[in-house]
Amino acid sequence: MEEGQTNIVARPMPKIGDKAPSFKATTTQGEINFPTDYRGSWVILFSHPADFTPVCTSEFMTFAHMEKDFAKLNCKLVGLSVDGLYSHIAWLRTIKEKIEYKGIRNIEVKFPLIEDITMEVANKYGMIQPGESNTKAVRAVFVIDPKGIIRTIIYYPLSLGRNFSELYRIVLALQTADKFAIATPANWQPGDDVIVPTAGSCGIAKERMASKDIKCHDWFFCTKKLSKGDIETKIIQRKK
Ligand code: BEZ
Repeated sequence: MEEGQTNIVARPMPKIGDKAPSFKATTTQGEINFPTDYRGSWVILFSHPADFTPVCTSEFMTFAHMEKDFAKLNCKLVGLSVDGLYSHIAWLRTIKEKIEYKGIRNIEVKFPLIEDITMEVANKYGMIQPGESNTKAVRAVFVIDPKGIIRTIIYYPLSLGRNFSELYRIVLALQTADKFAIATPANWQPGDDVIVPTAGSCGIAKERMASKDIKCHDWFFCTKKLSKGDIETKIIQRKK
């Protein structure tokens, strides 16, 4: 091998709209076959740089605390770092037994945490970004739909803890867009007006501009009401 060459195989980064790359892995909840085991559910696959580190600990506690909210969106969580299984187990036990953060304590991380010592999964998902670190995964987030298609990708650097309310908003917005055939505007929250697909003909543009139910800022930018109640009844699942 010539100087400067490495044996790391360059892979294309996964993209929105791609099938989620498949893998089998050992996790803190047993073996998983991804994404096959998650067919029919939404899933957030996310990486963190290292166990026993402060930002990651705050993130895991927050995500575990919100797991029930994601479950109501039929959305499962799967974590990953390049640490080993015993490190993962020890870290999750420490979190439950010793750590209190923002009023969250005694929190059990019930979702699987993948061990990825070989970095095989991290490399498949573009989670190792050498400009940030050669030895740790960045904070990657992949939102994958029930058909195993990647719908959103976000990468954060090591120093920046994720906004989990935003991750919840992303899953809810994607499901709302699918269910109601609309798009969601900047800073959308449930109950805010939503965007109707841009008119595809002069006739539809004219109808839109004249409609009482649709508000048009111009012919190509029209919104309509979608109540929080409609979203709650059609998307958010409640335990019976
Ligand atoms: C952290 O989680 O605190 C952390 C992990 C790796 C690098 C920097 C910060």
